[in-house]
Amino acid sequence: MLSTMNTRAPLRWLGKQLFNREDPGAFFDPLLAALNPMWVRGYVPARLQDVVDEARDTRSFHLRPSPRWQGFEAGQHVNIIVEANGVRHHRTFTIASSPRQWERDGSITLTIKRLPGGRITNWMHDNLRGGEIVGVSEAFGEFDLPEAEIPLLYIAGGSGITPVLSHLATLANRDFRAPVTLLYYVRSQADVIGAETLYALAARWPALTLKIFKTEEDGDGALLNDRHLDAVPGIRARQVYLCGPKGLMDLAGNLLSQFGIRESQIQSTFFSAPSAVAADTPLGGEVTFGKSSKSVESGGDAPLLEIAEAAELKPAYGCRMGICHQCSCRKTSGTVVNRLTGKPSGPGEETIQLCISVPQGPVTVDL
Ligand code: FES
Repeated sequence: MLSTMNTRAPLRWLGKQLFNREDPGAFFDPLLAALNPMWVRGYVPARLQDVVDEARDTRSFHLRPSPRWQGFEAGQHVNIIVEANGVRHHRTFTIASSPRQWERDGSITLTIKRLPGGRITNWMHDNLRGGEIVGVSEAFGEFDLPEAEIPLLYIAGGSGITPVLSHLATLANRDFRAPVTLLYYVRSQADVIGAETLYALAARWPALTLKIFKTEEDGDGALLNDRHLDAVPGIRARQVYLCGPKGLMDLAGNLLSQFGIRESQIQSTFFSAPSAVAADTPLGGEVTFGKSSKSVESGGDAPLLEIAEAAELKPAYGCRMGICHQCSCRKTSGTVVNRLTGKPSGPGEETIQLCISVPQGPVTVDL
């Protein structure tokens, strides 16, 4: 017969395991995953239907999240959770398909380009095949469709086209009548992502004017310039959406202001975090990682995520550009400057995002 003590100890242990978690149900995930991976509770499982080549170094991953996933708005992102070499990783990707597709057949499309040195994106390209299960977060991000039927201008570069594909398919489904122009910049025809979708939309949706510029094939004139903007009818009245690499976004921002377009007319989403910190802002300082009992000196504009990694710590992260909040961490003292806004934090305890927080003087974080 088991003693009372022996019976209660495992129960107490089980109670702790269950209730010291944000999602107690996730405790049973290893068991559920062994029975059926679509039953896990710690994240929303999604079955990979198939993977297709989309453009050079770019593949589309068609996923069907389990029915408890809550859906998305055009232009939003999700974190994908994969286990590579025994380690769980989170990465942020933009959904390239339309909410209509998800409502119709429960599937979403992530179109992902290989990145030089991109360990997880490259691992996904090399290892994920139809039938496998990955985790998917609820959707987040604000790259909102226009509320009114007003003329639109999209400027996209490379894989920055993915939220635009979702927007355009949604607008076409709504039979949006105001003029919509897309200026899409790629290196060559082989790099055009979503070519089939774009050409089909342009053929069936009269509001859309599609212009694809191939910078390696069409010569210097194919880089975004004032002639391209001048050729957009009624450009000053347009709402503008920007999505692409930082160089293109900066160039577009400058040119658009020369055309009298106000910042309030522009929405952008980033593929790398731009810095809004003024060049003469004093940055750097001693960073103390309280839980790890490590202190390092930072002399420049490196964010805390990079400083922690340089100190051989392994903080969680996803997008590395301030949108997914995977890197959120408690700052217990000191001031950090937000790279996206250029604004300093208060000096006290608060939650910060490591990937966009640059120390300004001595800082202590709970890591
Ligand atoms: S890693 Fe996504 S917000 Fe920091």
